[in-house]
Amino acid sequence: LYGLLLFLAWVAFADCKSSVNRHEIRKIPDGIMFGTATASYQVEGAWNEDGKSENIWDRLSHSEPCAIKNCDTGDIADDSYHQYERDVEMMRELGLDFYRFSLSWSRILPTSFPDKINEKGVQYYNNLIDEMLKYNIQPMVTLYHWDLPQKLQDMGGWTNPHVVDWFTDYARIVFELFGDRVKYWFTFNEPKEVCYQGYGGASMAPLYNISGYADYLCAKNLLISHAKTYHMYKNEFYESQSGTVGIAISASWAEPESEAHAEAAEDARQFEHGLYINPIFSKDGDFPAVMRERIAAKSFEQGFFRSRLPEFSPEEVELIKGSSDFLGINHYSSSIVYRNASLTSSSFPSPSFYDDVGTLSYHDSTWEGAASSWLKVVPWGFYKLLTKLRTDYNNPPIYITENGFSTRGGLDDDSRISYYRQYIDAMLDAVDEGSDVRTYTAWSLMDNFEWLQGYTERFGLYEVDYEDPKRTRTARKSAYVYKEIIRSRQLDY
Ligand code: NOJ
Repeated sequence: LYGLLLFLAWVAFADCKSSVNRHEIRKIPDGIMFGTATASYQVEGAWNEDGKSENIWDRLSHSEPCAIKNCDTGDIADDSYHQYERDVEMMRELGLDFYRFSLSWSRILPTSFPDKINEKGVQYYNNLIDEMLKYNIQPMVTLYHWDLPQKLQDMGGWTNPHVVDWFTDYARIVFELFGDRVKYWFTFNEPKEVCYQGYGGASMAPLYNISGYADYLCAKNLLISHAKTYHMYKNEFYESQSGTVGIAISASWAEPESEAHAEAAEDARQFEHGLYINPIFSKDGDFPAVMRERIAAKSFEQGFFRSRLPEFSPEEVELIKGSSDFLGINHYSSSIVYRNASLTSSSFPSPSFYDDVGTLSYHDSTWEGAASSWLKVVPWGFYKLLTKLRTDYNNPPIYITENGFSTRGGLDDDSRISYYRQYIDAMLDAVDEGSDVRTYTAWSLMDNFEWLQGYTERFGLYEVDYEDPKRTRTARKSAYVYKEIIRSRQLDY
């Protein structure tokens, strides 16, 4: 008997040991919701159907010579305008808590203004929202994910201060139309890309390319539009709709090359995302001090009579301060930042953002890369970013509104799986230390139109077949893994 007991104890011990080795798991704390995201221009197609008017991406993708890889357009994209039922079916397959998508302004208001509401466009969004709610999938809706009506662009777009009225009028209509069912709102997706790339640079529509000037005007107008919309919701809709309103800001991690470059990295962060986070989430309610001081000094040096960074009036500061229920973060990657002493204002022939920030960056050569040149796998950067946001801004509620990895296509996407596992793991490290993360959103539900890269960079959990007029969607290996993470509420190594 003694021998038998000893044997059984040994079996139990060996089994338990091997199962620990085989199977390390990490529980995901209750309260973090999981979803995926897309954006109107990237998936809807039907660019001129049922009364939709032209937006800046229609204009750019139709321009000649073509501005987009392979001359791709979003004319059909994933055909989601006709395939919303299949989209919701995929959300159900994944077991999502929510789906984040955006509305096309020019589909809802073809004149850009509230004088004419396009019923058919509204019907599409009603269908999508109702279908999701049937299965208890929460709609999280972005009002603006980069597809400005072309007519408003013709009047200066985000550089024209009147855009504040245009945007809040559009937002009011949207809250009236969908607010009975939508409880999560994002005013803007990635203001940095809108302003720096679209207005300061030429890598997003409308390719305005007036660096160090139009980008800052855009930032100011966009922040005021955001804040006015936030207060309008709280004053006019909150009582009856009780939703929550925030903004989704892109933030990468800037790692200093060495201790000597710590200040440079901090400057890079302030110029990249502090520009939007500081006014809304800090006590001073303004652009970061380093930006105000640096840009003013450079402007005077360059012979301007005033700073190229526009000022907020005291009323605007009060309006913007605290105008968000949560901080939405789109995070993908990191870079190494340094200050190059030989880089002076004279290295730049005219005022520019690059001169203003005064730092340079690169990727470590050991970092694994995705199909997108800017996307390297640096999960610890995600942890550091979340930790910094927690300490700098008094631990705001964080919604991770995007995180994901691109390939060139194919169903076997182990590199994407490993990216998601490592990044969710890094996020949970920050959560364990107190970061108040409420949502995690994978970009993207399915492959879609990746802006100037067209369909060459694939971010989907589902592959989309662009040769097929039906745009058939097929689950990738990563879709099964994401589904299992959501179902089991644990990370499995
Ligand atoms: C951020 C943007 O919001 C989205 O539109 C884009 O496709 C992804 N990043 C990937 O680049």
